[in-house]
Amino acid sequence: MAVSNKKYNAIDLETGKLDSRIFSDQDIYQEELEKIFGRTWLMIGHESLVPNLNDFFHTYMGEDPVILTRDDKGKLHAFMNMCRHRGNRIVQADVGNSKNFMCTYHGWTYSNKGDLEYVPGEEEAYYGALERESFHLIEARVDTYAGIVFANWDPGAPSLEEYLGDARWGLDIFFNRLDCGTEAIGPVKWIEPINWKTAVDNCSDNYHVPTTHLSAILVQGKHFGVPRTTHEQQFESPNKHLFINGHSMTLRFLDRPDQARQTHGVNQDNRAVFEEYYRTTLPEAQRRLGSIRAGQLQLGNHSIFPNGVLGFRLAHPRGPLETEFWHFVVLEKGMPDEIKRALRMGNGNFNGVAGLFEQDDMDNWRGVTRSSLTPLARKYSHDLSMGLGRAGSDPRFPGTVAERYTSENNQRNFYRRWEDFMNAEDWADIPIEPGTVEFEGTATMNG
Ligand code: FES
Ligand SMILES: [Fe+2]
Repeated sequence: MAVSNKKYNAIDLETGKLDSRIFSDQDIYQEELEKIFGRTWLMIGHESLVPNLNDFFHTYMGEDPVILTRDDKGKLHAFMNMCRHRGNRIVQADVGNSKNFMCTYHGWTYSNKGDLEYVPGEEEAYYGALERESFHLIEARVDTYAGIVFANWDPGAPSLEEYLGDARWGLDIFFNRLDCGTEAIGPVKWIEPINWKTAVDNCSDNYHVPTTHLSAILVQGKHFGVPRTTHEQQFESPNKHLFINGHSMTLRFLDRPDQARQTHGVNQDNRAVFEEYYRTTLPEAQRRLGSIRAGQLQLGNHSIFPNGVLGFRLAHPRGPLETEFWHFVVLEKGMPDEIKRALRMGNGNFNGVAGLFEQDDMDNWRGVTRSSLTPLARKYSHDLSMGLGRAGSDPRFPGTVAERYTSENNQRNFYRRWEDFMNAEDWADIPIEPGTVEFEGTATMNG
């Protein structure tokens, strides 16, 4: 390990050695909750989950339970689900529609704007001395990108637009393609016996696919006519693996502008329906994203720092050795029903709780997580040296671009980003890359 006076020096960027204690140490985990989940913009929901005035959706920021509300004026809020009296949860449901939330312990009642509106016995019990205004629910900053709702506890954090930065150039390809916007279906929730970082790191691990998922790939080939993924293909692939402002991204070149963008859910029977859809919507996508992003590129595996995995899917930390997955499928609202159904089924069958790919992955992530449990095993670093020194800038893309599609460049940078947050006193110490790309087309942060 390189000598450094930083508290955390988990990844050595010169050798690719990674200190595996970061996957199981309880003290490190507690610090992550504060320094990462307490500071970053976190995906917490989607506008389509709270479409009507006074809707709410229960979610999480790290381990903190959070209520996402749409108030009676249509404004979104994110509140810690914690009564300001004795800390009880004031919302017990997953979703609903309500102007008020009554704590079931002593009955303090809050509006969906976070104000404490009613206290039983306010005059008698408190002799009129309770300052209700000082008991507003703890509220996070909220902003949206293309319908996805993000929240942030830290008033010193940069804007969501700066936080995503040039990563939006790639994200727009999937999330911001059409005027109709998107809807999120889900979530399906389950617990995996893994550290949350293993799943995020894996979003950039193209190396594992032909080995880990061999049996699933054979099934896809036999029953759905999907071409088999091999190591040779992956090494020779012209596709790109980018690290942009803390976020990891895979961009794949399309063979034709009407090629079906998705890998899960498309088969020989419905491929023509997908292609017709992409042909018909191409002019609109070109207007919004320009011709390169609309017709030449597809967004592949990606992660949004810290815990967005494979799109709008969340890896909520639940202790160093457990992660709660929230699986959503994001669909363009105007998609024909046949395509929506195919994508819902396809995503569930491969990356859902019983998904073939998910089960393959989970076993490996559990092994990686548990490798750091014993003092003996912990003496040995993990190796992330693949493609060291083989990444740089590419005039066609923002961020740092790995020379090969299969590389551990993004993973090294993910742990370096993790260190940025873990070693920082506050946001003044955390680097943000200035935006450099021109966003061709009319699409904006707001759709
Ligand atoms: S804890 Fe909520 S009213 Fe007492
Ligand atoms: Fe995988």
